[in-house]
Amino acid sequence: MKILNFGSLNIDKVYKVKHFVRPGETIFSKEYQCFPGGKGLNQSIAAARAGVPIYHAGTIGPDGRFLAELLKESGVDTRYLRENGSITGHALIQVSEEGENCIILFNGSNYENGREFINQVLEDFGEGDILVLQNEISNLPYLLEKGAAMGMRILFNPSPMNESLKKTDLSGVTWLMLNETEGNDITGASDPDRITEILLEKYPQMKVILTLGRKGAVYKSAEECVYQPCFPVNAVDTTAAGDTFTGYFIAAIVEGKTMQEALRLAACASSITVSREGAAVSIPERTLVDERVRQLDKGN
Ligand code: RIB
Repeated sequence: MKILNFGSLNIDKVYKVKHFVRPGETIFSKEYQCFPGGKGLNQSIAAARAGVPIYHAGTIGPDGRFLAELLKESGVDTRYLRENGSITGHALIQVSEEGENCIILFNGSNYENGREFINQVLEDFGEGDILVLQNEISNLPYLLEKGAAMGMRILFNPSPMNESLKKTDLSGVTWLMLNETEGNDITGASDPDRITEILLEKYPQMKVILTLGRKGAVYKSAEECVYQPCFPVNAVDTTAAGDTFTGYFIAAIVEGKTMQEALRLAACASSITVSREGAAVSIPERTLVDERVRQLDKGN
């Protein structure tokens, strides 16, 4: 069984601000940093740091070579990563004093994943393999459709949400990993129980993982419902917290952990990420996460 993440790679330009800029306002930023990021890249790095072999497919421009280097250093297989002449995708991120963020995305090379390239990559994968997807690259509906037709098990993170995604057929998705806002956009409901209920009514085969921010996360399938509280932490920067959760969750299911163990591991890893600055660079190694889980088990 192989894991392929067909996902975005971004250069994150991060500005510390007192508050998010408002319409018509110009604000000063007292601190600027440039980090590797992109939901795709972050999730691949999280899975690799959690200890599972993962392939990352996607497109960068020459300015994004350091992203490829970081993936390799983190243990991600980059044989399906392509460089073309365009500008690498980037994200303009404001981080407030409370550690919250808001993001503007520039698609760049993330929108140059054509069908021919996708077909070439997918040729090396098959039934039972896991395909990890987010909504930051071109041809997402094609990938969802083709992956499902091939019998791949799809873990889909519908982030960032947009109009076309609200209408996308998710019947080929095995695991849907989303937050409350995305759940509300897809189902129209705001209550977490109602969100999972509507999704399972429409897609009975689906396993839904709904992250609830400070309230934790809930897993719901036709057979099982598991709740995981979040671990309190001093939040410095929430960027990539969800991506860390996703990567560690993938590792846990591949390792055959119970759902309670999987959610606990993922929540613990993501609590470490929010206590650090940056996206990919803030994702912890497995040894640290396991140590933290052991401390939590002892009640420390
Ligand atoms: O999920 C965090 C990521 O979202 C950032 O790294 C940024 O690149 C955006 O894609």
